Parts: sequence; C-alpha cells; structure tokens
Amino acid sequence: MTYGHPSATGMPDDHRLKQSIDDLHRVCGVYTMPTVAGSILDNVGWRATADLTNARLLEPAAGDGAFLVQAAKRLVASFRSRDIEPTIARLRSRITGFELHPGAASEARSRVRTALREMRVHHGTAAACAKAWIRNADFLLSEQPAPDHTHAVGNPPYVRWSRIPARLKSIYDSRLPGHVTRGDLFLPFLDRAFRSLQPGGKCGFLCSDRWMYMAFGERFRQQWMPWLDILSNDSVNASDVFDQRVDIYPTILLASKRSTPKTKHEPTPRDSSRTLDDLGYAVKAGPALGHAPAFVLRPHEDDVEPELLRPWIGAADVLDGSIEWSGRRVVILFDDDGQLHDLRRFPRLQGRLRRFTHELRNRWIVRNGAPWYRTIDRIRPVDWTRPKLLVPELAKVPRIAVDRSGAVPSHGVYAVFAPDDRIEDLYRVLRNGGLARALDGIAPRLKGNYVRCYKRFLRKIPVSIREA
Ligand SMILES: C[S@@+](CC[C@H](N)C(=O)[O-])C[C@H]1O[C@@H](n2cnc3c(N)ncnc32)[C@H](O)[C@@H]1O
Repeated sequence: MTYGHPSATGMPDDHRLKQSIDDLHRVCGVYTMPTVAGSILDNVGWRATADLTNARLLEPAAGDGAFLVQAAKRLVASFRSRDIEPTIARLRSRITGFELHPGAASEARSRVRTALREMRVHHGTAAACAKAWIRNADFLLSEQPAPDHTHAVGNPPYVRWSRIPARLKSIYDSRLPGHVTRGDLFLPFLDRAFRSLQPGGKCGFLCSDRWMYMAFGERFRQQWMPWLDILSNDSVNASDVFDQRVDIYPTILLASKRSTPKTKHEPTPRDSSRTLDDLGYAVKAGPALGHAPAFVLRPHEDDVEPELLRPWIGAADVLDGSIEWSGRRVVILFDDDGQLHDLRRFPRLQGRLRRFTHELRNRWIVRNGAPWYRTIDRIRPVDWTRPKLLVPELAKVPRIAVDRSGAVPSHGVYAVFAPDDRIEDLYRVLRNGGLARALDGIAPRLKGNYVRCYKRFLRKIPVSIREA
C-alpha cells in the first residue's frame, strides 16, 4: 500500500497517516458478535457442510477476525469432510482479508492461527495461512481484488464522510471515484466488495442501509441495484449484533450478484415464487410512543414548534387505495442522526409535555434511565420520508394505500418500503383486494373474521415482478 505525497504541513507524512489510521480505528473498530458473524456465514453458504474446496471469501475490513476465525474453521472442516488434506497450497487463495490497523491485523492473524491450531492444522500451515489471508493494508487503495470471489462478508466501517480523519480523507477524495466518496465510508467498501464477487457470488454485510434511500447513494444504487438480487435486508438492534454499545441502525444485507443486469420489469423464472422478503422490501411497524396523548396533536391543537411535527396516520385513516388523514400530527423528538433534541430549545413543546409529566415519568423506559420526555421508539424523520405502502395491522378486509407525504404511521399500521423506492410496482399488485388474496392462507383469521396483517405474514407475500 503506498499513500505517496509528501505532507504539506511539515509533519512527517507517515506519522500523520499513522495518527489518521489510529483515529479511524478508534471510531469504527466496532466488532461483530461471533453468533452474528456465524449466522451471516451460514446465510451466504460458507458452511462446514458446503463444498468450499474451490470457494473464495473476501473480508474487506477484518478487525480482530470476527468473521475470519469462523470462516477458517469452516473451510478446514469442509476440506476434511471430503478427505482432502488442508495444505497451505490448497488453502492460501481461499480467503482474502484486509485490515488497515496494524494492531487489529496482528490480533486477527493471531486468532486465526489459534483457531486453525485448534482444528489440528499443522503449525506451519496455520501460521502461513494467517499471514497470507490477512493483509495489513488499505482495502480501498490496494489493487482491486479479482472478480472471482464466491463470497464476501463483513461489517465495513461506518464513518460519515466528513468525519474521516483528514489525512485519509484527502487521499480517498483524490484517489477514489467521486460517486463513492460521499455520504459514508461504507460506500466504497460495498462498491469494491460487489466488484470482487463473481456472478452468482453471495455477500452478507452487517451495515447501514442508508445508501438504499439517501441522496448520496443515488448513483451507487443506479450502478448496483440492477446487478444485485437482494435476498434480505433486515434491521437488527445494534445491541444484539455489536460487541459494544453504539448508536447506529444496522441491517444485515444478504444479496447475490447477477450475471446480467436486471432491466426495469424483467421477469426471471424464480420471480413468480419470490416473497417480499426475497425481493428486498422492508416491512416496519409504526413506532411505539409510550403515552400517545402527549405526543400526538389532535387536529385543533397547535402548541408545538411546527418543525417538530409530521402527519400521523392511524389505522382508520388508511382506506383501500387512499389515505384520509384525520389531521393529527406527531412530535418527532430525534434528529436524522438519532440524537434526542434538547427540550430547552423548544419551549412550546416543553410546555406541552410538562402537562403529561406524571404519565411520562411513570413509564418503564424512564424508570430504566431514559430521559423522561422521549418516545419509546427513536423516531427519526429520515426513516419515514421514503414512499411507502401503509397496511393496518388488523382489518376485516386487508387495506393498503401509498403514502408519499413523509407521514409517520401509528403503532397499529405497517409501512412497506421498496428497495429502489418504486413502491407503485408493488401497489399495483396488492391494490383492489390483491393484499387480501395474497394473505389468504398466510395470515390466520381471528374471531370476528379479522385478518392479522402481521409483519411476518406480510414479508411472506409472494409477488411476481411480472405482474408488478
Ligand atoms: C466495523 S470494524 C469491523 C471489523 C470486523 N469485520 C468485525 O465484523 O468485527 C471495521 C474495521 O475496518 C478497519 N478499516 C477501516 N478502514 C479500512 C480500510 N480502508 N481497509 C481495511 N480495513 C479498514 C478498521 O480498522 C476496523 O477494524
């Protein structure tokens, strides 16, 4: 890895760079829990029971080896179950890992070596594999790996582009393509990882999905969406997947790379039996507030700073094919980064919420240490601005309507988002009773003949892109 360029500040360049790398690692070195790394490897098919003897796995940002330790063990088990001796010659090119930080890279090598020794791999082979597999190098500036990887997995660094330490940022700005040097550092990682996959190759990334809907990802989406079959993209709780507390909203993206790009409405043989989940649609319940009268303004109420308000859609507002908004609005207490607003900046809201102090302070979330005025769910405006279909959870005849107003649905309403925001495609399939037909046999009927349109049933709806 050569970074070149003498420093303009007089500081020795390698010292500034080392400092930048340490600073970056400090902010992004958040590791994946072993169970989660294992389940991602399972889902992309890097399993001990699979034939991995000719497979090739890429881990672009290895950290201390959360993915690589398990990938290594599975690889050896796969060789052995086929009576093939795992020699360095056979193993060397099966795994390629990068890690920028020297300390983390050496930790990853040591853990991989130990894992291989535990599998009774010869110590010379274990040491040689660990060394060959984990490069202490910058994935973004190294030579682009050949497009012959069958698998790519990991948890690439998330750092807002503007917050990348200065020395590294200026290098990336000058060397990487413009459409990936924006938004967030994970974008060029995904770009290079997708490039490294062979047709049919699978990837599994624990990552933010902001690229799927934020403006900074537009060119990236245009470039990559046609080439990806998104198998799932589920939101997960940060506390369930990372080894430390962080305030981020990850999803697990599982996708496979196509051999030819999709055209807009191109049907494929599998499409007729694919579910919303398979096609990368996301289903999200409306947020829980924890005492709605405090946070939802009735139509005649006007005692909150307007910039904090968004239309609020209850189940009764969703008709089949249209929304009849009742005029209620909900208070959004968080900014787009998920930071809770300081109440002192909004005196009108403060005045309103004080009227509900007793009820709000009595909630379990507050008794467990949360600020007294927060909503249970962290509602960010950005999470609800994309076009979406709204589906009341409980209905005699399931109903569906499109919302493009950025409204926030109540807790009894589900929102369905399309991976590329073309929500009309799905709406055409599900309107006019299509949703009821699709749920027939998937969602049970309750007493009184109500259908429960639960998230897990909605995700299973089979959709034909041909129809859409
Ligand atoms: C979010 S951690 C994830 C580590 C590991 N994949 C895991 O899941 O536990 C991201 C890692 O990427 C490394 N990193 C950051 N920029 C990198 C680059 N340009 N090339 C390679 N590694 C990088 C960081 O040092 C950090 O250890």
